[in-house]
Amino acid sequence: METVHIRVNGREIEAREGEMLAAALLRAGFKVFRKSPGGSPRSLFCGMGTCFECLIKVDGSWVRSCITPVREGMEVEVEED
Ligand code: FES
Repeated sequence: METVHIRVNGREIEAREGEMLAAALLRAGFKVFRKSPGGSPRSLFCGMGTCFECLIKVDGSWVRSCITPVREGMEVEVEED
């Protein structure tokens, strides 16, 4: 399996070509993807594209990270503490 490189909050991480973004983020140690308007942490929940809990900003647009495959050069923004 090929390795691709994505940037998360400006930091480069390695991912496996064809894997979903949520899997790459969790493996890299990102447990929280964003915060709700009330400040609650949000991350992977259903893992199959139905709940929208895993929304994350990629190249300026919101995507469901559990059904979005990684691609070389992807720019990802997560809300860190
Ligand atoms: S975890 Fe439910 S849509 Fe991604």
